[in-house]
Amino acid sequence: MKITDQTILVTGGASGIGFALAEKFVREGNQVLVCGRRESALKEAKEKIPALVTRQCDLALPEDRESLYRWIATEYPDLSVLVNNAGIQQWMGVEDPDFYAKAKKEIAINVEAPLHLTSLFLKLGSLRTIMNVTSGLSFAPLAKVPVYSATKAFFHSFTLSLQKLVEEKNIEVIEIVPPALNTDLGGKGIHDFAPPVSGFIESIFSQLSEGRKQLTYQSSEIVSKAGQEVLGPVFERMNAAR
Ligand SMILES: NC(=O)c1ccc[n+]([C@@H]2O[C@H](COP(=O)([O-])OP(=O)(O)OC[C@H]3O[C@@H](n4cnc5c(N)ncnc54)[C@H](OP(=O)(O)O)[C@@H]3O)[C@@H](O)[C@H]2O)c1
Repeated sequence: MKITDQTILVTGGASGIGFALAEKFVREGNQVLVCGRRESALKEAKEKIPALVTRQCDLALPEDRESLYRWIATEYPDLSVLVNNAGIQQWMGVEDPDFYAKAKKEIAINVEAPLHLTSLFLKLGSLRTIMNVTSGLSFAPLAKVPVYSATKAFFHSFTLSLQKLVEEKNIEVIEIVPPALNTDLGGKGIHDFAPPVSGFIESIFSQLSEGRKQLTYQSSEIVSKAGQEVLGPVFERMNAAR
């Protein structure tokens, strides 16, 4: 992937991993657009990086995805990179009274939105790269976040197929596989135990410059390459204290 002089959309780019990616892409000389639900987070991101273009949208809603696409097709028709980063993570049990409602929301944001955006943005002749943010939990689920883990396994599988499906169109599909990182994912404080995003971003960009298609870091490097003899014990260890 060429990492300069691109026009890039990062979904969920006002905070966490998305913001760090947006910041780095701006520093590398790209035009970067970010979208998210919270106006306050978008405003704060714009204050930190005035070059960012921000757009409010709720990716759980198909009509918001369509209007995001129409806006970009009109205002930024040279968009070349789509980063499907936005996601939510919910701790829940299958017997929770609102389990199904919460599951549907998580599936809408983590699965339906990137699928829909992919099909919309492929209509732009300028699109050259799609980057999908999956997770180490795509490979070994954490039972406390059962639907989240399943959405990320889905997204990992879809990303592999997508690589093949758009190969002929000369569109590159890159999977970013973060391990647990210190962001507000799942709620403030939940990921405080995890390493900062900065080291991860540095590593991701160095892997990008090497032309890698699956970008991993620390434990996600191990689980993404592992067979069942490694994943089995990892799964048991992660889910031992429930
Ligand atoms: N942090 C980790 O440990 C970790 C590990 C593996 C994978 N990941 C993945 O990395 C991605 C980024 O997560 P993060 O850790 O950076 O957490 P984060 O700071 O909570 O970022 C998630 C972003 O997605 C946006 N978003 C959520 N729902 C949305 C919706 N309906 N419409 C539009 N935007 C929406 C959020 O903005 P609003 O709330 O303003 O909408 C937020 O900017 C996610 O896909 C996550 O699954 C994270």
